[in-house]
Amino acid sequence: MILKQWIVKGNKILSGTINVSGAKNSLLAILASSVVVKSIVVLENVTPLKDTYDMIKILRKLNVRVLYDNKSKIIIDSRYVRNVKLDGEEIKRIRASYYFMGALLSLFKNVSVIGPGGCKFASRPIDLHLFAFNKLGCECVNNNEIYEFKKGKIKERTVIFKKVSVGATVNAILLASRLRGTIRLVNVALEPEIDDLISFLNKCGANIKREDNEIILKEAKLHGCHFRIMDDRIEASTYLILGACLGENLKINYKQNEYLKELIKTLRELNANIIVNKEYLLVSKSEGFESSKLIFDSYPNLATDIQQPLSIFMSKSNNYSVLKDKIYPSRYTQIEDLNSLGFDMHIENQSLYIKNSDNLKGGVVCCKDLRGGISLVLAALLIDDQTTINDIYYIERGYYDLINKLKGIGANIYEKN
Ligand code: EPU
Repeated sequence: MILKQWIVKGNKILSGTINVSGAKNSLLAILASSVVVKSIVVLENVTPLKDTYDMIKILRKLNVRVLYDNKSKIIIDSRYVRNVKLDGEEIKRIRASYYFMGALLSLFKNVSVIGPGGCKFASRPIDLHLFAFNKLGCECVNNNEIYEFKKGKIKERTVIFKKVSVGATVNAILLASRLRGTIRLVNVALEPEIDDLISFLNKCGANIKREDNEIILKEAKLHGCHFRIMDDRIEASTYLILGACLGENLKINYKQNEYLKELIKTLRELNANIIVNKEYLLVSKSEGFESSKLIFDSYPNLATDIQQPLSIFMSKSNNYSVLKDKIYPSRYTQIEDLNSLGFDMHIENQSLYIKNSDNLKGGVVCCKDLRGGISLVLAALLIDDQTTINDIYYIERGYYDLINKLKGIGANIYEKN
């Protein structure tokens, strides 16, 4: 599948200003939760990503009216939502389609949804989602990838997750936000996108509180609201890493720098120059460092979603640096392509070993998933020669208007016609 190709000629200093769009992973959860609200909601800062359009298609299948300006504002009317068996390409293409399980179960007794898709960089089970549904009274049978649910009586009002999961936390919130009485979710994910979802639902009248790794939902009447999606911390992180590789006073328009605390600390320790301001971040490149060991884990640790882009910055390491992804221990789909460009990376005991290489050269590489794909772009931006990047579709799932944003800070990158 070589649908789109980008050509990059790298090793240019990057400076000027780059903007950050609305957060993909917050938006996807909130789009599904607009069904739960059964009312009219207006969302701002909605990024027109491939996944956004897939979510809109699913909403329309459910008889939800959606008006989108294809830029940043969307109006969703879910007052006449219908219970439809969800199946089809758009559901199988994206991960977040599984949020319609929780959303529909909050409203209907019998729900049927085909299993989700998304980037296939690891095995991605949904047992924790099913566990939460079960405790909250929903039995599930899986027939050829189709999940058939039957909602009955709540079994337990306190759901204790044995492992932290962003998706399972979202799905449990969606289902619980319409249940009678009080529900307590324990050992939930701390990711800021979850708090954005909670803020949205609370603005719609919900009574949801977070107490550290617990979320308490009290019965409430829901209504519509007007809400602005938070900015994308993973996109902002990616530009910060890019600035640490090649920046000269690269200004990133991103305000919620507290979400990037661990990354800023790490990059500073590795000699990147970062100024944190209320309105933006200013980053200049690191000239290199000896070595480091980085661990990627649930928030507030370094996010698994920046492990692949960060592997490019770590190639400034004089000795072997080691990256360990505790969330997805095999999320290293970028290595083969990167080594074909002369990078020095290998895996040992599920850790990624990286060191400086003098042999970087252009070539032809292929995106295999979203974050692996963006790491190929970052790599190509480091290399003097020309690099062709195939299967750009994956990158477009999470980075809006990337070519123009990168051109705007001095990168030599264009799309091949
Ligand atoms: N897990 C289970 N069982 C489950 C669910 C998860 O064992 O039922 C495991 C996973 O295999 C993984 C860990 O728990 O080892 C955490 O997975 P999580 O459920 O938190 O991931 P997710 O909800 O499927 C979201 C983001 C991902 C991001 C992860 C981790 C969305 C739509 N996706 O996925 O984003 O990597 O959280 O932060 O919000 C991306 O943006 O590129 C992306 C993949």
